[in-house]
Amino acid sequence: MSFDVKVSSSRIRSDVFKRKIMSAEDAAALINPGAIIGMSGFTGSGYPKAVPQALAKRIEEAHARGEKFKVSIWTGASTGPELDGALAKANGIDFRLPFNSDPIARQQINNGEMSYFDIHLSQVAPMAWEGFLGKLDTAVVEISGITEDGQLIPSSSVGNNKTWLDLADKIILEVNSWQTELLDGMHDIYYGTALPPHRKPIPILKSDDRIGQPYFNVDPSKVVAVVVTDSPDRNAPFSPPDDTANAIAGHILEFLKWEAKRAGLPNSLLPLQSGVGNVPNAVMAGLIDTPFEDMTAFTEVIQDGMLDMLEAGTLRMASATAFSLSPEKAEYFNQNAAFFRDKLLLRPQDISNNPELVRRLGCIAMNGLIEADIYGNVNSTQIMGSKMQNGIGGSGDFARNSYVSIFMTPSTAKGGAISAIVPMASHVDHINQDVQVIVTEQGLADLRGLSPKQRAEKIIENCAHPYYRPMLRDYFERAKKGSYAQQSPHLLNESLSWHQRFIETGSMKI
Ligand code: COA
Repeated sequence: MSFDVKVSSSRIRSDVFKRKIMSAEDAAALINPGAIIGMSGFTGSGYPKAVPQALAKRIEEAHARGEKFKVSIWTGASTGPELDGALAKANGIDFRLPFNSDPIARQQINNGEMSYFDIHLSQVAPMAWEGFLGKLDTAVVEISGITEDGQLIPSSSVGNNKTWLDLADKIILEVNSWQTELLDGMHDIYYGTALPPHRKPIPILKSDDRIGQPYFNVDPSKVVAVVVTDSPDRNAPFSPPDDTANAIAGHILEFLKWEAKRAGLPNSLLPLQSGVGNVPNAVMAGLIDTPFEDMTAFTEVIQDGMLDMLEAGTLRMASATAFSLSPEKAEYFNQNAAFFRDKLLLRPQDISNNPELVRRLGCIAMNGLIEADIYGNVNSTQIMGSKMQNGIGGSGDFARNSYVSIFMTPSTAKGGAISAIVPMASHVDHINQDVQVIVTEQGLADLRGLSPKQRAEKIIENCAHPYYRPMLRDYFERAKKGSYAQQSPHLLNESLSWHQRFIETGSMKI
């Protein structure tokens, strides 16, 4: 990787760090087999792009010589093909946490070739500090610049970078000039966290409260390499919402208007948290045309729809830990960063997703699900109870602690062969107590204050697809007669038979 002197002197303003500039290959050579590496990156933004690829090449060469070479990778969340993709392709990842959406890594996880620790995103940094995860050897962190006095200007995601920089024995920095220089000032890095019994309240009372500093501190003696890059973030392509996404969004918008009136919520509603994808983007688009105004988001990622809301003036500001934009919107953001920069705050993920803050602020949580059972237990991660899709991400951080926890999905998957509403969830990430509203294109079930049997009635009638609704009704009626007890009636020899049928025949249909 060549380095551009002009770029390095405008982005790297400290002579101490300039002297450490080297190629990605030389930097990757400083990483040993078996290393535990903390890398930056969150939902495809702000991840290192050059060093992981150079490391993958090194690993491939070692394997070709018959040598063993694997590493453990910790990140903020998902990254991109240059990181997870390249290292997985090289068969170089032994252990991975805390979230993955890379298809090659996913396949290796599901083949049993890669160990995967799926964990609430707010818990990664505290767990690393507590020492449960092992000793972090190396941090590889993308930044957007280095100040004269050697502080690091974060990139398009913050994630766990503060923790990696503090805990790692050695640090490799990638300074990416593709990131706009106007990111400078958009971050709020809080250095006040501590482990029990020294933990103190985190002093955020509103989404836009700033409690930290714009830069990461770093011990320059630990920095072994600075690599200069000019590469775009992954930025997942965005397809416009289809009829199903629009129908789900419509139900959620009606619910929010009804709930605001019922509960006497202000016109600014409550801070929004939203997962990524077409449905959340459709919700954001719909919110532009509601009576709500001056809203804020206290969420994990900033997506296309939020930028539109900021431009429309419906959203006043958004607090998150990362961007998750389409390529077009990322370019648009880079060109218009001057407009957005005082309306966005990026924080470490143990702050953006902090349960104390989600509970205090009363977020409205909106997340996707894979399947829900008739009592409202939600599976967000494992298809047919065993195949990892992505991971729990921040959904648990928000769902348990929000003002209202909404889960959404199309009522069927795989062209109708799978019902998203099943008798019993084949894996549970969110217990029914953490699931207050379920929405499909068929309708919305507000489950608050209902007993399990009342919840089942609502979920089946409001959310299930018409093909599967009679099958679910039949199961529920027979379960009420034949169950061991009546709190949440089940027929245990039948409750997972829909999944088994899918595995055997390719469809849950009879
Ligand atoms: N059974 C089997 N497969 C299912 C399924 C089900 N019940 N429901 C969805 N799928 C499959 C889809 O067919 C699709 O497969 P494909 O990639 O082969 O096409 C895949 O799962 C993704 O589903 P999709 O409908 O595209 O939904 P999505 O992109 O909105 O993702 C989740 C849904 C649940 C996977 C996603 O929201 C997620 O990872 N959630 C957990 C993390 C989270 O909530 N993060 C946000 C917190 S801030």
